[in-house]
Amino acid sequence: MKVEVPTQFVLRLISPGVVGLVTSEYRGRMDVTTIAWMMPAGREPPLVAIAVHPATLCHDLIRRSGEFAINVPTLDVLNQVLTCGRLSGNEVDKFARTGLQLAEPRVIRAPLIEQCIGHLECAVVNAFQPGDHTIFIGAVASATVEEDLFEDTWILRERDRRPLHHLGGSWFGVLEERIEAKSESPSE
Ligand SMILES: Cc1cc2nc3c(=O)[nH]c(=O)nc-3n(C[C@H](O)[C@H](O)[C@H](O)COP(=O)(O)O)c2cc1C
Repeated sequence: MKVEVPTQFVLRLISPGVVGLVTSEYRGRMDVTTIAWMMPAGREPPLVAIAVHPATLCHDLIRRSGEFAINVPTLDVLNQVLTCGRLSGNEVDKFARTGLQLAEPRVIRAPLIEQCIGHLECAVVNAFQPGDHTIFIGAVASATVEEDLFEDTWILRERDRRPLHHLGGSWFGVLEERIEAKSESPSE
């Protein structure tokens, strides 16, 4: 038996993607914002899409600077991830509030987050607003990762060091196992 899903929960059927801590910077002002709505958007060059509400500070800083970084958090910083999605940098300094530490970016100006296990530094190549969020398309200019956690894919070592997935509200999950599928067609 299938039941109808209330409108406010429909998008949770296709969650959970990896949740990101998106960092942004413009003229010395920095912010870190939790963003669950993101997806790959191109392979060559690698593109990512993030959906950002126009009322956020993150939106303002990305629009002005044309850059952002996606930092991949883990269970180690679970509560900070929720806090960065509940507070606005317009009201508080979220770095000071959460203890998230800045790390040097390689090619953009926005800082990275030391406690995260991976980082995509992106330059905005397109932006459009199909609804109440702006879709920023970012070209990945640099990608760095904790070396013992990634071999072509995330290898899901210790539970506390796996990417986090957002289920909805204050619920998150981590993947249990990496499983290789077999197929008759050539591999990617
Ligand atoms: C788990 C989680 C996921 C979120 N995902 C998004 C998202 O994909 N897009 C968005 O615009 N806001 C999202 N938010 C809300 C923003 O993080 C929130 O509005 C934040 O306070 C904005 O901060 P800022 O004003 O410092 O940019 C999410 C919040 C949480 C807790």
